[in-house]
Amino acid sequence: MAFSPLSGKKILITGAARRIGKAIAIRLHNEGALVRIHYGNSREEAEAVSAQCGNAPIYQADLSKVSEIERLFREVGPLDALVNNAARFTKIDPLLVTEADWDFIHSTNLKAYFFCAQQAARQMLQSTDGGRIVNISSIGGIEAWPEYVHYCASKAGVIHMTRAMARAWAPKISVNSVAPGAIPFEEADTEPLQQLLHKTPAQRFGTGDDIADAVTFYLTAPQFITGQLTIVDGGLTLV
Ligand SMILES: NC(=O)c1ccc[n+]([C@@H]2O[C@H](COP(=O)([O-])OP(=O)(O)OC[C@H]3O[C@@H](n4cnc5c(N)ncnc54)[C@H](OP(=O)(O)O)[C@@H]3O)[C@@H](O)[C@H]2O)c1
Repeated sequence: MAFSPLSGKKILITGAARRIGKAIAIRLHNEGALVRIHYGNSREEAEAVSAQCGNAPIYQADLSKVSEIERLFREVGPLDALVNNAARFTKIDPLLVTEADWDFIHSTNLKAYFFCAQQAARQMLQSTDGGRIVNISSIGGIEAWPEYVHYCASKAGVIHMTRAMARAWAPKISVNSVAPGAIPFEEADTEPLQQLLHKTPAQRFGTGDDIADAVTFYLTAPQFITGQLTIVDGGLTLV
């Protein structure tokens, strides 16, 4: 393999057993990184991703609990980069959202991103080379989706938190965000997604590889690029 700037870099990807996280893990492994695969419940799928990533180590943790995040980072050890990817998605009329519904989303989508980044940053700030953090957000953090108000709030939080973290931990750590548009897997044939497809200027859905491209960019870009957001949606938010 030709030289890659990610060769030998230790990178933790949360929620890497399936879908987008899996695509990111496989891409980074193919770029020479030493990936660390986190999963919540999907142990078999995580083992399969590990097999595709040179038997990379896998780690289980419920990220909605800070104590589990702390244990995860103790087990994983020092990192060069973190990709915060694991998140939840629910559709609920905002008039019906309960405290439990709110906490279900925010404990993972926003709180866990913060505390994972905090754990990573504490290590990276001690290292001469610093580190990089990429937060996977969503176009739901930019657009206003009436049946996903609680989810939109969590993803808008990720986007702005990225900017504040970038300032807090500069110059040693770059912190950037990638906002996917519609990246369907098994749900691609559903009517709402087909409607989105018709609206998308790129005339196709996004893929896990599209997101992995943007993550790879931030993990290899000049450290001078920090606090930024890249929308990967085939132009959907332009419409
Ligand atoms: N797919 C899209 O169209 C789309 C669009 C916009 C943004 N995004 C964002 O892109 C990222 C990946 O999307 P995706 O569709 O691939 O996600 P996904 O399949 O819904 O979730 C990814 C993984 O997150 C893990 N996870 C969720 N809550 C967890 C918790 N409390 N503790 C530990 N693990 C937890 C799950 O792991 P286990 O299966 O192991 O339990 C799951 O496999 C997410 O941040 C999502 O918000 C996706």
